[in-house]
Amino acid sequence: MKHFIILLVLGAIPAWAQQAKIVRGPYLQNFTSTSGVIRWRTDVPTDSRVYYGKELPRNAKSVHDARLTTEHEVKISGLQANQTYFYSIAKLEKVSNQFVKTLPKPGSQQAIRIWALGDFGTGSKNQLLVRDAVKDFVKEKPIDAWIWLGDNAYGSGKDVEYQKNVFEIYQEDFFPNTKLWPNPGNHDYKDNPDSKKLAYYQNFTMPMNGEAGGLKSGTEAYYSFNIGNVHFVSVNSEETSEDGTSIVDSTGQQAQWLKRDLAANKLPWTIVYFHEPPYSKGSHDTDTDEEMTKVRQQIVPILERYRVDLVLAGHSHSYERTVPIRGHLGQNESFDPNKHVFAKEIKPNHYVVDKSSAQGTIYIVAGSGGQLGKSQPSFPLKSSAFSTVALGGSLILDIAGKKLVGKWLGSDGKVHDAFSIQK
Ligand SMILES: [Fe+2]
Repeated sequence: MKHFIILLVLGAIPAWAQQAKIVRGPYLQNFTSTSGVIRWRTDVPTDSRVYYGKELPRNAKSVHDARLTTEHEVKISGLQANQTYFYSIAKLEKVSNQFVKTLPKPGSQQAIRIWALGDFGTGSKNQLLVRDAVKDFVKEKPIDAWIWLGDNAYGSGKDVEYQKNVFEIYQEDFFPNTKLWPNPGNHDYKDNPDSKKLAYYQNFTMPMNGEAGGLKSGTEAYYSFNIGNVHFVSVNSEETSEDGTSIVDSTGQQAQWLKRDLAANKLPWTIVYFHEPPYSKGSHDTDTDEEMTKVRQQIVPILERYRVDLVLAGHSHSYERTVPIRGHLGQNESFDPNKHVFAKEIKPNHYVVDKSSAQGTIYIVAGSGGQLGKSQPSFPLKSSAFSTVALGGSLILDIAGKKLVGKWLGSDGKVHDAFSIQK
């Protein structure tokens, strides 16, 4: 009775029954050829409803979750591969930027486009320019997957920083229709000493049970997935696993999973990404940094053993691309092109590889998506094919059948580096 009177006095309806406002999202997670997760945040707790269909608002299907929450996470399934579905939240309507194209069938040779972005959530002018350059560049051929290389939200990966420097920056053009596969950096780990409580884990949904292809990891900290004929592995260079080891222990929990995952992969292309690079002379020096030296010594041999094609990282606020290298576990000075460069055929910026000969791995640091930093006096790496800290930018990868083309798109909208690998 007392509550009833208070409600009458305030003329109030319970908060959850009011028209809730979406304050974050929608954004897309874990999308495969048949299912995916749509997430968003509301200002007050409500139930969750998503309408979806190829011809929205006609012939709509819907998923409803009656639980009241501000953090909405709805899985839609039973989708067909390679199809564009529109979706709406709470109300059946067509919203022009809310759509998702499902992935091609696993193993498909069709062309896919990847956008890899590192060290971006700063709120800087560079971040906006890099974003706008990509928005313009992908008009004709949209992005199939958006890969983050860590240090997503500065300075400490806090939820408010994710809101201001990440969600608000990319919401209009990318989040509602770009399938995201995140990776954390050291700044994202500053949010909380207890890694389980990081905003990074609260905000994102990763495939921990092998549901997007790849081997079950059992943790959101690291995971793998497949798109068409490419196998992707998101390795975590920041977290200590339950057995007390980290990625720099080649016999630890994560490294063991990485070996099993790579061994099980049957797809022709493999791209591995994590935050802290094994080779950099940008704002971080992999000759003097103990952690990154260990990544090189402990993890690079695993990547080489399984013929990983590309390794993407951030951390240094630069763009640095090596030639295809193998067996270069020492410091930069020890690099010898006669000993460490491997491909069946090498032309400037074009590499032919096949199983009959040893294959090098191309290592890319793409950590200037928002940050833009200094470099070491010995910049660039001796193994560098192209490197710059003069400009921010991000990486676009186009993979079709047996050809991969990589382009580093600067914040000025121009392609400054282009390379290709032919299998
Ligand atoms: Fe970093």
